[in-house]
Amino acid sequence: GLPEYVKIVEVGPRDGLQNEKVIVPTDIKIEFINQLSQTGLSVIEVTSFVSSKWVPQMADHTEVMKGIHQYPGVRYPVLTPNLQGFHRAVAAGATEISVFGAASESFSRKNINCSIEESMEKFEEVVKSARHLNIPARGYVSCALGCPYEGSITPQKVTEVSKRLYGMGCYEISLGDTIGVGTPGSMRRMLESVIKEIPPTALAVHCHDTYGQALANILTALQMGINVVDSAVSGLGGCPYAKGASGNVATEDLIYMLNGLGLNTDVNLHKVMEAGDFICKAVNKTTNSKVAQASYNA
Ligand code: HMG
Ligand code: MG
Repeated sequence: GLPEYVKIVEVGPRDGLQNEKVIVPTDIKIEFINQLSQTGLSVIEVTSFVSSKWVPQMADHTEVMKGIHQYPGVRYPVLTPNLQGFHRAVAAGATEISVFGAASESFSRKNINCSIEESMEKFEEVVKSARHLNIPARGYVSCALGCPYEGSITPQKVTEVSKRLYGMGCYEISLGDTIGVGTPGSMRRMLESVIKEIPPTALAVHCHDTYGQALANILTALQMGINVVDSAVSGLGGCPYAKGASGNVATEDLIYMLNGLGLNTDVNLHKVMEAGDFICKAVNKTTNSKVAQASYNA
């Protein structure tokens, strides 16, 4: 059966903006996050404490983190690939972090400049330091349904990396279809394997929509007991180290589907569409959300 409540993790300010070529002014990012905070979302991924040489769009991470209004009941995680990023994040006021690994050796090297094994050693230090400060840590596994460099990735490899992150203390593992190549079939096979090692209630899915399969893949995951879904308002997003990958599933489209299924999210679709409209105008883009397009044409 389907879960009654689905937690949406809004990744628009981070995944949604990291791939934008034109640098978005810091005050626009702050206003965007403050608007999202008033939609009922309970988790908003704010920024990444990564190298500004690698991802220039996230160079203002400290200013964004310090500048946002932290609304009660909303959590504001940030990405931290290593101890240097973690210490900067904590100094900026972060109270929740994510480490991000991959099930593909080639993608790991392109994205974070080290092997999977080396990344796990760095993440262990980060998660351990986080635990000392009572900071919850989430773990991402990229390329869970395919890799831009290696092609198909086995469910066994995804399971192995997920288990490692869960074992080191990540409370939730977000399984990323980084390049949006998965289908309900590959999603099911991958989850059947991971669920043998990690309870579905500790898993999330993170679907990019390159091939238009994201909502179908998410529904498959919900049917298998997963009740945390990552999405980005307006369907923004993409990874700079995954060429050709398009945006995340749009938060608007996800909410529309969940509302239709009668599942509770506590998120106000109309307010999310307003935040989407704001950021699209600010970055001079048209929305990728089908629901937003349909509503504005109606
Ligand atoms: P590196 O060059 O291997 O790091 O980068 P290093 O430890 O060798 O240090 C080299 C330089 O980087 C030094 O500076 C360090 O200070 C600096 P220099 O002495 O040359 O001036 N440095 C840092 N600066 C700021 N913050 C840090 C940091 N660490 C070192 N944390 C690093 C390693 C991971 C930093 C780099 O590869 C990087 O920034 N990569 C970007 C990764 C990224 O943000 N990718 C996109 C997010 S992941 C994603 O989108 C997928 C996801 O959405 C899920 C999915 O869809 O699958 C999550
Ligand atoms: Mg992503």
